[in-house]
Amino acid sequence: MPAIARMVEADDLDLVISTVDVELIALSERREELAPAILAAPSADTLNTALDKMARRALRSDRPHPRTVLAGSDAAAVDWEFPVFAKPRQGAGSRGVRLVPDRAALDALPTDEGLIVQDFLPGEEYSVDVIADAAGNVIAAVPRTRARVDSGVAIAGRTVRDEELEETAAVIARAIGLVGVANVQLRRDRAGRAVLLEVNPRFPGALPLTIAAGVDIPSLVTDLFLGRELPVRVPFREVASVRFLEDVIVEVDDLLVSAHAGHQEEL
Ligand SMILES: Nc1ncnc2c1ncn2[C@@H]1O[C@H](COP(=O)(O)OP(=O)(O)O)[C@@H](O)[C@H]1O
Ligand SMILES: [Mg+2]
Repeated sequence: MPAIARMVEADDLDLVISTVDVELIALSERREELAPAILAAPSADTLNTALDKMARRALRSDRPHPRTVLAGSDAAAVDWEFPVFAKPRQGAGSRGVRLVPDRAALDALPTDEGLIVQDFLPGEEYSVDVIADAAGNVIAAVPRTRARVDSGVAIAGRTVRDEELEETAAVIARAIGLVGVANVQLRRDRAGRAVLLEVNPRFPGALPLTIAAGVDIPSLVTDLFLGRELPVRVPFREVASVRFLEDVIVEVDDLLVSAHAGHQEEL
């Protein structure tokens, strides 16, 4: 926090935006230390609910949701349809997720790793980028498919206009008291209904696609947290994207040296 506060002062920053799950709660609990800069994040309470994959407020009962319980005796007591899915209660980047094929495998799950057990969702997966204004009104909910995922980031996909997906994500955003941006991940259950996987209360890795579809989340978040008025509703269109890696070849003399790119020693 002191290091960020020094950057705020040195560069005269107005806004601080964190894109890292594990830093969000700590930052939001001590946001006044960043003054005069504003932390562009919802309350610590909202973040705690969002980052907990078992939070009842996110798994709202008026929308279909997967049964979700702690691994151990709670999970053993449920009459599951196998396979089921297990994952860390607070995880990221698909680390520690596993398919549990039968009751023996369920009983063998470790109980000291904060694992949750959930109905297996076999259908298509979507990420819905949601932005809510200061009063919690959802002004855009943009669903996109994740056709290819690399290290937890969608590298190919498309936006889809789908009333069920948009409304389900908006209901979840309102239930957790979202102000600002979140990425609500949904997946279709065995009956084909879109249900909640998890909420990431930060900018998504596939943000360029949502911007290209018409919802400029960075601009909207900036306006929101600087107290400017937001539109009531921002429309979007269907568009697709593919991300690729490219080698850029330059003359050695054209290389730039920057203290912000790990070149400290050379400087
Ligand atoms: N209940 C489930 N059924 C089927 N697949 C799941 C389920 N929960 C998670 N997954 C798969 O595991 C991936 C990671 O789970 P997620 O809850 O998004 O955690 P994180 O992205 O934080 O690691 C999801 O993108 C999805 O493909
Ligand atoms: Mg996820």
